[in-house]
Amino acid sequence: MCGIVGYIGPQQAAPICLSGLKRMEYRGYDSAGLCILQDGTLHIGKKAGKVAEMEREVDVAAMTGTIGIGHTRWATHGVPNDVNAHPHSDASGAIALVHNGIIENYLTIKKKLLHAGYAFVSDTDSEVLAVFIGMLYDQLHDFELAVRTALSEVEGTFGVVVMSAHDPDMLIAARRGSPLLLGVGQNEYVIASDASAVISHTRQVVYLHENEMAIVTRHDGFHTKTIHNEETHSVVEQIEFELDAIEKSGFDHFMLKEIYEQPNTFHDGFRGRLLVDEGNVRLGGLQAVADKLKHARRIIITACGTSWHAGLAGEYIIEQLAKIPVEVEYASEFRYRDPIIYSDDIVIAISQSGETADTLAAIREAKRKGATVIGFVNVVGSTIARETDAGVYLHAGPEIGVASTKAFTSQLCVLTQFALYMGRMRDLDARTGKEIAAGLAALPSLIHRCLEQGPAVQAIALAYAKATNFLYLGRGVNFPAALEGALKLKEISYIHAEGYPAAEMKHGPIALIDENMPVVFIAPKDEIYDKVISNIQEVRARNGTVIAIASEDDTSIDAVADHVIRIPETLPILTPVLASIPLQLLAYYIAVERGCNVDMPRNLAKSVTVE
Ligand code: G6P
Repeated sequence: MCGIVGYIGPQQAAPICLSGLKRMEYRGYDSAGLCILQDGTLHIGKKAGKVAEMEREVDVAAMTGTIGIGHTRWATHGVPNDVNAHPHSDASGAIALVHNGIIENYLTIKKKLLHAGYAFVSDTDSEVLAVFIGMLYDQLHDFELAVRTALSEVEGTFGVVVMSAHDPDMLIAARRGSPLLLGVGQNEYVIASDASAVISHTRQVVYLHENEMAIVTRHDGFHTKTIHNEETHSVVEQIEFELDAIEKSGFDHFMLKEIYEQPNTFHDGFRGRLLVDEGNVRLGGLQAVADKLKHARRIIITACGTSWHAGLAGEYIIEQLAKIPVEVEYASEFRYRDPIIYSDDIVIAISQSGETADTLAAIREAKRKGATVIGFVNVVGSTIARETDAGVYLHAGPEIGVASTKAFTSQLCVLTQFALYMGRMRDLDARTGKEIAAGLAALPSLIHRCLEQGPAVQAIALAYAKATNFLYLGRGVNFPAALEGALKLKEISYIHAEGYPAAEMKHGPIALIDENMPVVFIAPKDEIYDKVISNIQEVRARNGTVIAIASEDDTSIDAVADHVIRIPETLPILTPVLASIPLQLLAYYIAVERGCNVDMPRNLAKSVTVE
């Protein structure tokens, strides 16, 4: 949801900002722009479209200077055109900013500014902030004070980097609700929405907190304070991942690379945690709330998108192993419906990015109402990770492809371990515990075997790439996997796809079935296998095409399915992990065949930091 970057130091700022934007482009790619201070004047180059388009249209090499800012946009206010692209400047053109977030009271501020005679060129809320800062600067003649005053008056969210020709050796960064970190190098600083834009310069970072700002100077280092002018103590932390984790490493797309990483990322999710011999799990991050977990009467899982699908699978898994009631809530709904929360509830936020605005708001609401809040988050140091009482990191490494893949299976990995941990704290016997732990431990090599099906899945994808609709059906814990399979397809191929519980099909979706409707069934050999076969027959009777994800040794399914993709046998609660692999590959190959931009699907963003 918009990536912002800023550089100050001895090097040329434009190439550094540009490479930072490329790294963060998954956050939004509606437009891109740079602002560089050159010979005392701010020079802005910006363009609708992806960063590459901006690079083609703007003579970036001619933008010389050692202080600059950049932006890649996911549009909220104003269509994605050149004028609405960031950076935005004030009326004088001497102050410019890049902004990620939404200024909710921008219309009120804009009215005041219009009344005072200021004019606007764009439709954005961000330009209002720039003009507002400019007006305050004209009155106060103090850059920092002008930024601080403006930010304390705006409502809404911001990650913002501001520069001024009046103060050529200073960048000001601030955040509320949108992520922002400051990379601290050798006499140079890179400010960015995420660590991927910083890592090629430095591993030392300061994560800004809510309502905190960093005043970064060329000669006197940096200091942090709140936007209300209270000094804060900043801690320099270390970025843990390696540079190759955010590169394609020979794969055509990040998504494909991330799909193929799953044997390792899944393993990383339980490494050092799983105690196979004891049939238990050690989750150090939950130690602080162990007592609360033991006595909890209910778990509420809240999340968005793919993470919500993982949460739904978590409901089946946790209820089965720990025998504790679980509710799964869309974060965007949960936060606004005055949810009933008891002080002995455990609220779990699941999030890849740890920055999703709705999920963040949901946990704040849960905390306000006294629940214990824990996070299953991938991005280390992210806002949700920091605001929860306790948590478990996914350890999936950076996920760049907008369509989430490896984070989903890592979420299932952590959820299953959590269920096992909760179960063993309660009534789950050691024998079952050992079975689950051994099942988890075996999954990396089974995921690897699923990946070997790649060419077979690709052949099916080619045959159905022109379809206009798809149905995905599964039962029990495989129903969330069906939802996720459908989401993957719609996100990256723009084919309409629906996920449904297989048995619900007869209550509506069956009306859609004809010879043009491919139906993907998740049909492993489990206790409801026969029921799923009946559902398959119902589709066949209406001339639908059946693509079955079936157990490796199931030969009888060949008689009822048009195509069969085999997955190895595992425990029933672990099947969604394996079923997801061919579903990810199916969506990927269909999207590639349709010529879609797999890593940057239209209208989407990886991290949605606005409501
Ligand atoms: C966006 C992404 C989805 C993701 C969802 C939740 O919509 O496009 O892929 O599942 O946000 O993100 P989170 O980072 O909280 O898991």
